[in-house]
Amino acid sequence: MAIRAIRIYPDPVLRTPCRAVGAIDDSVRKLVADMIDTMHAAPGIGLAAPQIGVDLRVAVVDLSVGEDPEQQHVFLNPEIVQRHGAASDVEGCLSLPGITDKVERPTHVLVKALDLAGQPFEIEADDWLARAICHELDHLDGVLFVDHLRGLRRERVRRQLKKLAADQEVLV
Ligand code: NI
Repeated sequence: MAIRAIRIYPDPVLRTPCRAVGAIDDSVRKLVADMIDTMHAAPGIGLAAPQIGVDLRVAVVDLSVGEDPEQQHVFLNPEIVQRHGAASDVEGCLSLPGITDKVERPTHVLVKALDLAGQPFEIEADDWLARAICHELDHLDGVLFVDHLRGLRRERVRRQLKKLAADQEVLV
């Protein structure tokens, strides 16, 4: 297990649609373990594989940030099969440091995925868990939460992204 560097916007891997996980081998198990370590260390409540530079359809969510093993969810090849309701709340993203804004998400989702044993499972999630899952699954398609903003919020975030990109260039 290891903490890996989190990729920051505008790293192109964050815009890359991810590939499905094939065989669940040691490399996939290590990826998941590293993602959980990295998420907890950040600290964050969710992480998607592209955020550590891997273009595979893997996401982890843990609203308890390591406090409660029951709340640690691992999703391989996840798919949202039902969504209901809508609510706006503030989101941030480890790959977009310093940027937060209100995003509308479904209040209820039904998600299908594989677990680390390769077994299919379903989970029904409400409210914050539904929001976190939607956010992380978006990452697997190269979508960031800021992409959902419209109007003045979009204009403001466009300036913030420009600044973030300029800061990253200075660091590189
Ligand atoms: Ni994110």
